[in-house]
Amino acid sequence: MKVGIIGSGGREHAICQSISNSNKIDEIFCFPGNAGTENIAKNIKIDLENFESIKNYILKKKIDVTIVGPEKPLVDGLVDYLEKFQIKVFGPNKIAAKLEGSKIFTKELCQKYNIPTAKFGIFRSKVSTYEYLKKIKFPIVIKADNLASGKGVYICNNFIEAKIATDEIFDGKFGDAKKILIEEFLKGEEMSFFTIHDGKTFKTFNTAQDHKRVSEGDKGKNTGGMGAYSPSRLINSKLETKIINKIIRPTLKGLADIGSQYKGFLYTGLMIVKDEPFLIEYNVRMGDPECQTILPKLLTNFDKIILACCDGKLNETDIKWSNKKSLCIVVCSEGYPEKFNKNILIENLNKIELANNEFLFHAGTEKKNKRIYAVGGRVLNFVSISEDFSKARNEILKNINKLNWSGGFYRKDIGYKVIK
Ligand code: AMP
Ligand code: GLY
Repeated sequence: MKVGIIGSGGREHAICQSISNSNKIDEIFCFPGNAGTENIAKNIKIDLENFESIKNYILKKKIDVTIVGPEKPLVDGLVDYLEKFQIKVFGPNKIAAKLEGSKIFTKELCQKYNIPTAKFGIFRSKVSTYEYLKKIKFPIVIKADNLASGKGVYICNNFIEAKIATDEIFDGKFGDAKKILIEEFLKGEEMSFFTIHDGKTFKTFNTAQDHKRVSEGDKGKNTGGMGAYSPSRLINSKLETKIINKIIRPTLKGLADIGSQYKGFLYTGLMIVKDEPFLIEYNVRMGDPECQTILPKLLTNFDKIILACCDGKLNETDIKWSNKKSLCIVVCSEGYPEKFNKNILIENLNKIELANNEFLFHAGTEKKNKRIYAVGGRVLNFVSISEDFSKARNEILKNINKLNWSGGFYRKDIGYKVIK
């Protein structure tokens, strides 16, 4: 079987690795991939906005199934486009992808179907926003409506901070913004809950806890994710039932009512407040770095699960997991999530020898003349699975020390809530 993978991050390298474990795979193509995927797949340099050239390549190479990793092509309708040419593709269609593409779409759906979420208001101008901000209590959360790689969210403790956020969003920091969202601040603990869908049924796909802030102790700016552990310390069967019945099922009903079905991964970002789940956001894909953290624990062949989803046969497939604990630390380029240096040589990668329970997934890397350079903000993901989180983290830290890369930084405290 030939598999295509769209994307170039750590998530896509982890997907590529999992797919390559199956003995049914003849060839994997990554569009465009990174220096890590290059070792197990053919990297195809292609503009992800050019749907036609992606389609032409898939047809030319007779790729059997294509997995879409990142949100942008999903929100832009790549799945709908490829399906018009009878191409088998794993990921949600354009309407379903609005769950991530428009925070306001999701909030309105929550309102209509009684899905627990933070109270909110939608504002269409700076003036009406300022008026509202003068009357309310802080903290509050201000969000840009559109995709912003996890950066369009401001937690504001006073009017001045809220005014800066409002101005930045309306002045176009995250693209053309005609509306902003103001939410009640929920105090609780976050959890990422994953499900996989075939359009008719769905199954859970494990849980994780991301670390979004750039600095240790959860301080500093929001990032795409600095590390994660899986499973989340919060999950239990009672909470899982609540998440499914109060949040996921009504969401699927909402999509069905507008004529859409969900196929692909669904990432439910939750705040757990006193054992009750509140929806913070949906993402229409696996999380990054949650994917890198979760997939190494998967015991069932990943290609089998993906095909079952594309064929609407997920109910015939059992998904089995290792009970081990998994932890992931992301090594980033100095400066991330603000301006960071590009094309920095990573020298010691060959000094790292991975044991069977250890994984190294590339993200923003590129190979030039047999040497590997950092070209993105998040560069490498070190993962270890073990009996306990502490052992996993120690093994990772040893590997990162061996790398000894002067151009990078990372958080040593990933998993601090589950490691004493
Ligand atoms: P989002 O992009 O919507 O996931 O928001 C990014 C981060 O902001 C979340 O992971 C939370 O840490 C935080 N956040 C978002 N909305 C809220 C809220 N209503 N209350 C508290 N924290 C929030
Ligand atoms: N780790 C957060 C995300 O993938 O959006």
